Amino acid sequence: MPDGMMVDYDGLIPNNVGLNQDARLRKAIETWHPGYIDWWKQMGPEGFQENLVYLRTAVGVDPKGWAKFDYVRMPEYKWGILLAPAVEDRRIGFGAHKGEPAWQDVPGEYRAMLRRIIVIQGDTEPASVEQQRHLGATAPSLYDMRNLFQVNVEEGRHLWAMVYLLQKYFGRDGREEAEDLLRRRSGSQDSPRMLGAFNEATPDWLSFYMFTFFTDRDGKMQLEALAQSGFDPLSRTCRFMLTEEAHHMFVGETGVARIIERTCQAMRAAGIEDPGDSERVRALGVIDLPALQRKMNLHFSLTLDLFGAEISTNAANLFNAGLKGRYREDKLTDDHVLRDATYPVLRCIDGAIVSEAAPALSALNMRLRDDYVADCQGGVGRWNKIIEKAGYDFRLTLPHVAFNRHIGEFTALPVDTEGRLLDAASWAARRDTMLPNADDAAYVASLMRPVSARGAYANWIASPKVGIDNKPGDFEYVRIED
Ligand SMILES: [Fe+2]
Ligand SMILES: [Fe+2]
Repeated sequence: MPDGMMVDYDGLIPNNVGLNQDARLRKAIETWHPGYIDWWKQMGPEGFQENLVYLRTAVGVDPKGWAKFDYVRMPEYKWGILLAPAVEDRRIGFGAHKGEPAWQDVPGEYRAMLRRIIVIQGDTEPASVEQQRHLGATAPSLYDMRNLFQVNVEEGRHLWAMVYLLQKYFGRDGREEAEDLLRRRSGSQDSPRMLGAFNEATPDWLSFYMFTFFTDRDGKMQLEALAQSGFDPLSRTCRFMLTEEAHHMFVGETGVARIIERTCQAMRAAGIEDPGDSERVRALGVIDLPALQRKMNLHFSLTLDLFGAEISTNAANLFNAGLKGRYREDKLTDDHVLRDATYPVLRCIDGAIVSEAAPALSALNMRLRDDYVADCQGGVGRWNKIIEKAGYDFRLTLPHVAFNRHIGEFTALPVDTEGRLLDAASWAARRDTMLPNADDAAYVASLMRPVSARGAYANWIASPKVGIDNKPGDFEYVRIED
């Protein structure tokens, strides 16, 4: 951008926050924007920056405005700043300030806490773009490639959403945090992203679908909890982000579903009765269900770590302060203060995993995690329906919450996927049956060959039932010039 002052920001950045009327905010965004574009070009989808992609852009928050489909080059995507409409006379719904008018400005006493949760949420958004940047090269179809890029540009927009809050409400330190969000890198030794799962590699498309199913769903839970916030601008920001997040989980759920469908179909055609016969299944060039199960075990357990320690004073403080509520707090019917309430928490006591009543306020991470597990369960049930319909008596299951954990009560405990405590040696002996092993990685990697003919799909994944924006099967979702 040669001259930032010449830019019509209302034209460039779809927004409903009065960007052109707010000189200070405009200036902050003008300063940050070139760095963002540099980051996108360096760390965004590799090799496809110049291609035209059939993307959905949010230009407004009403049903007509938030899903405009057209071909765009990704660096020219209009990353907007959009808040869900204000709720008239909105009140703080929980904690010590319950019933007071929602804050339109940052409450001074909670400034540091609030900034921290915005930064943590913000850091996950560019991280996943970085993790997924190599995947375009091996997309199983133009449809899938487009979905990947859609997720990527929306994560970019989610970063914008958090940067808006930092720049608008947190002055100089907000601007510094916004710069730092562009400085950290997923997987970097010196300057990694803030949360563990966002520093893991996403080496293949199976990982991508699992990530969008499991890890984007953590995003959904966090956004739901922040959408309850007494800090109204955060609530409105998160409410709008949730509309986009739904698409990310759709990509994950249907991606895995299409893999299962294809595998079952290929097994049937080949007369394979035992889905556990991975060697025969792999000879067909499709992904065996036990390998899918192991991949699920990995992504589920990594994502559980994102909920933090089961017992947490930080979570209690955020709730008391009215900054972060529970999942769908406004639909719950208790006192929303939780001073005397308890909540069952799983703990490891004398080598046994037991449920113990803990003060509900300290157990809020555990509660959000439970809501998350229930939400995952729905999708897994739908996956199993496909296997059942194909006539196989194999079921995918979520592993026990104590399995493969690195944060909280079960850190580093040798627990199997059923929740049985093992000794270290038997855990090590069984590791490769519970988590993706070297053979799985090599096999899945061998399948990652790009398919870019219109309407064609890689052998290991079924075609989707309907196109994006109701486009026909042979639609050119990404223009690949040769
Ligand atoms: Fe996001
Ligand atoms: Fe997402």
